[in-house]
Amino acid sequence: MKKLIMAAALSTSLLALAAQAAEPLAFQGVMKDLGRHMQAVAGAIALEDWAVVAKTAPLIAAHPQPPAEEKARIIQFMGANMGKFKSFDMQAHEAAHKMEHAAHEQNGLQVIDAYREVQSACLGCHQSFRKPFVEHFYGKQ
Ligand code: HEC
Repeated sequence: MKKLIMAAALSTSLLALAAQAAEPLAFQGVMKDLGRHMQAVAGAIALEDWAVVAKTAPLIAAHPQPPAEEKARIIQFMGANMGKFKSFDMQAHEAAHKMEHAAHEQNGLQVIDAYREVQSACLGCHQSFRKPFVEHFYGKQ
């Protein structure tokens, strides 16, 4: 009987763990928003709507941070790679600032150059870290 109860308790906590593992991080929500903002900018560039670019770029530059507890898990997972991870974030941040300034000046070519720079920072981080990150936090997919 005792064994049975223990087995039941164990499988319940395993289920809880599995549910926790599948739960998307707040970080993923931040990423989804970044994706939407970049699409909005691309659409605005096609319309030469620099006001929309100028309004959207700061949302990319100053995206929200995940909650402290989640951030700690990410820092722990990144370990020695945290510097590299952070530098991609900084690159995206600085390029988004450039994009905002260029939009204020209605300089289309500079907006496009900065857009490419932002997107390259996104890609750099994704190519280096997305796969191991997803495997670590959500299990193999
Ligand atoms: C510092 C590293 C880093 C930078 C910079 C970064 N990303 Fe990500 N991104 C990630 C990681 C890690 C994931 C996987 C997160 C997850 O699935 O929880 C991800 C996932 C995503 C996703 C998929 C979300 C989903 O629905 O599963 C999108 C969209 C995205 N990023 C957009 C962007 C855009 C746009 C930028 C640039 C403006 C950007 N990211 C910059 C690390 C980064």
